[in-house]
Amino acid sequence: MEPREFFIEDRLERFRLKAFCNLGESGLGHFRLDEVLAMANLSGADLDKIPMNDAPNQGSLELRSAIAQLYPGVSPDQVLVTTGTGEALYLAFHIALKAQSKLALIWPAFQALYEIPKMLGAEMIKLPYESAFLASTWKEVEADLYVLNHPHNPTGKTFSESEWKALTTHFKAEKKKVLFDEHYRFLPGEGFMGRTGVDTKHSFYGTGSFTKCFGVTGLRVGWLVAEESFIKRARSFKDYLTHTVSPISERIALGLLSAKENFLPSIQTRVRNNIKEFDSVWKDLPHTRSFTLPDGGLVGWLQLEPGISSERYADRLFEKTGVFVLPGINFEEEGFLRIGFGEKEDRMIEGLSRWRECSDLI
Ligand SMILES: Cc1ncc(COP(=O)(O)O)c(C=O)c1O
Repeated sequence: MEPREFFIEDRLERFRLKAFCNLGESGLGHFRLDEVLAMANLSGADLDKIPMNDAPNQGSLELRSAIAQLYPGVSPDQVLVTTGTGEALYLAFHIALKAQSKLALIWPAFQALYEIPKMLGAEMIKLPYESAFLASTWKEVEADLYVLNHPHNPTGKTFSESEWKALTTHFKAEKKKVLFDEHYRFLPGEGFMGRTGVDTKHSFYGTGSFTKCFGVTGLRVGWLVAEESFIKRARSFKDYLTHTVSPISERIALGLLSAKENFLPSIQTRVRNNIKEFDSVWKDLPHTRSFTLPDGGLVGWLQLEPGISSERYADRLFEKTGVFVLPGINFEEEGFLRIGFGEKEDRMIEGLSRWRECSDLI
């Protein structure tokens, strides 16, 4: 069993470090280690004292406690620390699915959300994003597992309060199994923390991380939240994969989670300003057709005029301006570009100004 190529990765590898203006990534532009340590209230001397043995297989109790506090009614025993959200998803799918299981998800989607289930022989039910944020859409679908990525990558959409209530009430009443991928929970459209659907009493599992929202993707820390029996199986499976997360990553992760009130508001302001800036100029960018303001998260979905190859457009834009965007075809949907809003504000403004002046993109 082998998944197909991960379509966004080749392009990300080629361009993310070379771009003058990086609108291709789905994470906040990275901080340096010295900046991260300051954010986490740690010094180099604190790191010097970390014992370099394996961290506990499930993750340190301190870190699991800090993660559990992000969810109502969740205990540290219901948390597994993983190497990124990617590993948490991989484990959850292996445990929750079997061949011919039906999985419903919002389309387009981050590829791991359907490629791993497909590799396991599951059948996909793709719900187009235009109607997927309405409870009525999901009520018509019979599946073994429902995957809700909110705020959504690549569109930035999420549910209104009334649709959310109607949907979670329906899932509870029908005793459905749901996996909430809430990678962007620390960047809601407004307020400090976005909502969570996780409810371990109802088989509402969660995967999450802060690495994209905090600009520390290199830390490779994520988590899975579920009832104890599910976590026990996932932990045992993880023992065959990455086994444990580095104790250095765990310590910094704990520091960041504990101090997030100090540094997160300025990150949120930066991302919201970038989204506002983009929304004010996108109509002047060549050959664009529509853009829906993201409800949260770090990415948005820009529609191009019909008939344009998103890959060619993205390639030419990079060659001519140094602005890097992801072509929709990497999400198996032609005619769109995914725009990331994690760049520094001055670079974003300059990048958009170069893009606006650019002709000959198609
Ligand atoms: C929706 C979603 N889930 C999961 C992941 C995987 O995240 P990680 O880098 O923590 O493995 C990503 C990465 O882009 C994502 O966009």
